[in-house]
Amino acid sequence: MNCLISAGPTREWIDPVRFISNPSSGKMGYALAQVAHNLGMDVTLVSGPVSIEPPSGVKTISVETALEMKDAMLEFSETADLIIMCAAVCDHRPQKKCDHKVAKENIPETLLLQKNPDILKILGSQKKPGQILVGFAAETHDVLASAKKKLIKKNLDWIVVNDVSNHEIGFMSDTNEVIVLGASDEVERISLADKSIIAKKILHVVYPQWQIKAP
Ligand code: CTP
Repeated sequence: MNCLISAGPTREWIDPVRFISNPSSGKMGYALAQVAHNLGMDVTLVSGPVSIEPPSGVKTISVETALEMKDAMLEFSETADLIIMCAAVCDHRPQKKCDHKVAKENIPETLLLQKNPDILKILGSQKKPGQILVGFAAETHDVLASAKKKLIKKNLDWIVVNDVSNHEIGFMSDTNEVIVLGASDEVERISLADKSIIAKKILHVVYPQWQIKAP
């Protein structure tokens, strides 16, 4: 059972000393990777820059930008049975990255951006038979309806919904509370708990066969 997980933020460089990013800590993806490994899965973790220890026994690939994350995810998705896209990928990158530090008086008032590829959507468009594809959704309003749209648009089997307007949960916190939506309209609510407990419950929802096989 090959499991591929992405985690953490991406970093989109403006010049060698400045970047655009987001506050993702990587904790949720790392917890998923550790639990999947403990359940006996062969786990590859593709991680953006984070400051937490890599999970033990997990092959961890470090990337920085969305484009690097895309390349790694597409490469390892070829042999993955279960893919969980937990990373907070920056939707945009600066149109131009300067090779040298730009002096502050030369920084333009408006930064021109270009769209990054939607990695999950690409994975959904080339999903292999039997492959299970799981996305995350960070939402602040119309939480379930917005997540359901993403599930359909990206051809997912499951989407794990975070309400990021609540600071007790999500991004930087050690705890989380999620709703897991399925392509066949399943709705599984997982109440506030440590991210390792949430990870175990998510894996049991998206891959129930595992409950039978796991000791
Ligand atoms: N995602 C991705 N590539 C991107 C952006 C997002 O693979 N360029 C993935 C995330 O890892 C997550 C899912 O898509 O699993 C949903 O991410 P989210 O930020 O909630 O939604 P977006 O699709 O970016 O849409 P929006 O920001 O408009 O809500």
